[in-house]
Amino acid sequence: WPFMAPYVKAINELKQARGAVILAHNYQTPEIFHCVADIGGDSLQLAIEATKVKADIIVQCGVHFMAETSKILNPHKTVLIPDSRAGCSLASSITGADVRLLRERFPGVPVVAYVNTSADVKAEVDICCTSSNAVEVVESLNAPTVIFVPDQYLAKYVASKTRVKIIAWKGACEVHERFTGDELRAYREADPSVQIIAHPECPPDVLAEADFTGSTAHMINWVRSRHPRRVVMITECSMADNVQAELPDVEMVRPCNLCPHMKRITLPRILDSLIYLREEVTVDPLIAEKARRSVERMINLKH
Ligand code: 13P
Ligand code: SF4
Repeated sequence: WPFMAPYVKAINELKQARGAVILAHNYQTPEIFHCVADIGGDSLQLAIEATKVKADIIVQCGVHFMAETSKILNPHKTVLIPDSRAGCSLASSITGADVRLLRERFPGVPVVAYVNTSADVKAEVDICCTSSNAVEVVESLNAPTVIFVPDQYLAKYVASKTRVKIIAWKGACEVHERFTGDELRAYREADPSVQIIAHPECPPDVLAEADFTGSTAHMINWVRSRHPRRVVMITECSMADNVQAELPDVEMVRPCNLCPHMKRITLPRILDSLIYLREEVTVDPLIAEKARRSVERMINLKH
């Protein structure tokens, strides 16, 4: 990407001058993920790393709920997102008021929120989870029934792995819900030795066809450790590009479903973000304090 080189250079210089750190999700494009990010990872890794950041400025290359999580965990730092319109179909499917109504309808039933939610929602729930730890979080509550919001497919996946009864919200990821079982069967028919790995935000008929299901970090680790000859990654397709750069001899089959929200983050926008210190993410301090409890409860389970 030769035309990107001046941006990479300028971002890395300004990042140092400003004392900023760049956190990037696995779905960011390779020139962001590999050339300017200081820390890359899945939602859980980014949330944990956000608690350890020493820099005063965090530039979040990901979607808005991820930047909010960093702000919730770092209330006194400046958290920037290069484009605040980078939303998420899951986060926009539920509000804090919806969670209050669920609690009225199911009194005493604990509520788990996937981190793909707004700070408002995180403030109303008992604990957060990511796709890396959803089963563990649900079971940590020691309750016979748990309300799980907002991803209906991740909820179904969790329900298939535990005896806890799950009451699910009806949200979905607009990227992962597009995959179909037929599509996966076609990959396997074309090459019976191909390995297929899928993210748990996919519908159950898709997961039924996969050789492995896991969060983005779990999928990457699976490819690193198994080193398959050919693999289909059933998730947002920039991740395959990022893994390909690391493992050039693994053949990646790329069904290219892009997340339009993740793709709003570009090198020119990151540079603008560092020059003008925009767009600053703010969370009402009272909401942030309640939301922090839900996020920290999840993080503390891991350590
Ligand atoms: P993870 O990286 O936690 O698996 O999340 C996937 C996702 O869709 C984030 O938006
Ligand atoms: Fe949201 Fe799906 Fe995009 Fe992730 S990939 S940010 S879950 S819409």
